[in-house]
Amino acid sequence: MAISELDGRTIPHETRLPAIMDALAGLAPGESLVLVAPHHPAKLLQILLREFPGRFEFGPLECGPAAWRWQFTARDPSLPRSVTGYLVWDHRRMEDLLDETSAAANAGRWEDAQRCASRYATALRRHADVEDEVLFPAYENACGGFGDGPTAHMRAEHIQVRAGIDSLVRAVDARDDAGVRAADELLRRVAIEHHAKEEEILFPSIDETFPQPELDALVQRLLLA
Ligand SMILES: [Fe+2]
Ligand SMILES: [Fe+2]
Repeated sequence: MAISELDGRTIPHETRLPAIMDALAGLAPGESLVLVAPHHPAKLLQILLREFPGRFEFGPLECGPAAWRWQFTARDPSLPRSVTGYLVWDHRRMEDLLDETSAAANAGRWEDAQRCASRYATALRRHADVEDEVLFPAYENACGGFGDGPTAHMRAEHIQVRAGIDSLVRAVDARDDAGVRAADELLRRVAIEHHAKEEEILFPSIDETFPQPELDALVQRLLLA
């Protein structure tokens, strides 16, 4: 289902921030909005975390140079934050983007396929970077290091996932039906199985490792990375 978009570039600068905050504050838990901004929305994200703690999941779909697209979904702020909660949200939205990319390519809607593939690539590359650079080091430090343990295995799978994204983007750009099907099959096998392992084993274990205040701080670092 298409998520409604608010193009902040069309709102006068003086009223832009309050208008965006009003639109986001009006979302009920489970509802989503995509914001289009003329620059990285770092300031807005900091304000949202301060003014509405625990109220939103968010992540990028496009990072410039002409537009920055960020996806927001409202959540119930009375529920405790967790790594599982945030990153499962991110996995589901990426899986939706892969579905949309392949459906558009199969229907010969190549411009739509390019747009969806680009957003999928932005979201999934950033997701793998956040896990590699923020989440796994925090978990490894808390556990005294892992050597070749579960995070090393996940890092190795991220290399395959990134290669799959590159193949998908290349195939869509070349309007190569067979290439899109092959990349789709690879990503479903590698990325989706990888997500399942994280969701069922690794993330719950990370959530159990940290007391709630530290978990809140860790999720905040993931959101802003
Ligand atoms: Fe991962
Ligand atoms: Fe993940």
